[in-house]
Amino acid sequence: MSKLPKEPPAGEITPPALYLRRREFLKNAALFTGTASAIGGGLVGLTGGAARLSAGGGPGGPGGEATPLGSASPPATPGTSSSGTNARGPFVTDEARTSYEDIVSYNNFYELGLSKSEPAKNAGRLRLRPWTIACEGEVQKPEVIDIETLLRWFPLEERVYRMRCVEAWSMVIPWLGFPLAALLRRLGPTSRARYVQFTTLLDREQLPGQRSDVLDWPYVEGLRIDEAMHPLTMLAVGLYGQSLLGQNGAPVRLVVPWKYGFKGCKSIVSIQLTERQPRTTWNRAAPDEYGFYANVNPAVDHPRWSQATERRIGELRRRPTLPFNGYAEEVAGLYSGMDLRESF
Ligand code: MTE
Repeated sequence: MSKLPKEPPAGEITPPALYLRRREFLKNAALFTGTASAIGGGLVGLTGGAARLSAGGGPGGPGGEATPLGSASPPATPGTSSSGTNARGPFVTDEARTSYEDIVSYNNFYELGLSKSEPAKNAGRLRLRPWTIACEGEVQKPEVIDIETLLRWFPLEERVYRMRCVEAWSMVIPWLGFPLAALLRRLGPTSRARYVQFTTLLDREQLPGQRSDVLDWPYVEGLRIDEAMHPLTMLAVGLYGQSLLGQNGAPVRLVVPWKYGFKGCKSIVSIQLTERQPRTTWNRAAPDEYGFYANVNPAVDHPRWSQATERRIGELRRRPTLPFNGYAEEVAGLYSGMDLRESF
């Protein structure tokens, strides 16, 4: 055990069995852009991102181009609010925001590359329009919803949330989106709906990482229905006032701020309400390492590293990790009576 790193190297969400197959990763990574050497390369990719604001192309453009979205203001200097306010509360923190450049160039999106910097380089492969989301399963009104329709249905709100990755780094991100509960209410869950399953696009051309068997594709995540209905849970379509870029999960991704970042399923094409707990991707790959709940919990270490502290991207010193990522007041009640060591 002592030989194991205290903190995971960047890019190290990988379960042990898969970790040992790095060589294969490298081979597959070469499918993208030949930048395989960046794997495990720490923060190498931090300044190399494709942070192009309002680059044109419109919302129908490829995943590498952002356009202004909604009425939110343009990107602000890190540490200031892009909405012009510095309110405290569950929906907006006054903690310094991570820079736009870091948010769009330091990513986990295995379908677009295994290193932190590759997703930004490959995001242009993702075709964002047309895009539909099949809303199905235990709902009264199943519907295939076009992304434009979804954007018309729900007013966009800015939510400034902390995001804590299971790899022990974190960011503060001003998301733009709407509460998932608004969509679920519209669909009308049946009395049998107990969980919600989210699925990423399956397309080996647009998401070439799916040619490798590093994970079972498509990427699937899930929530209990009460977690999904919680007011903090949102579907994000933008950040810093711009439409999402492919590397961040365009055109629509899940954001659940009290859970580890891997719950935030990207580039969603299906939302299915189910009676049974969904079989989620990371939980299936390594059940001892990635639980279904994945609530941020400094008291429960990952088998290979401590979860007690985290490194905020852009900062040098580590900071303590807070239970439920600092959202305990809002969400701890969802888990009363549960053993959070067992249901991790
Ligand atoms: N969704 C898909 N489809 N594929 C992924 O590899 N990575 C997850 C999550 N969603 C991932 C995904 C992980 S591990 C994290 S930490 C967050 O996305 C990272 O989101 P970001 O790149 O926007 O910061």
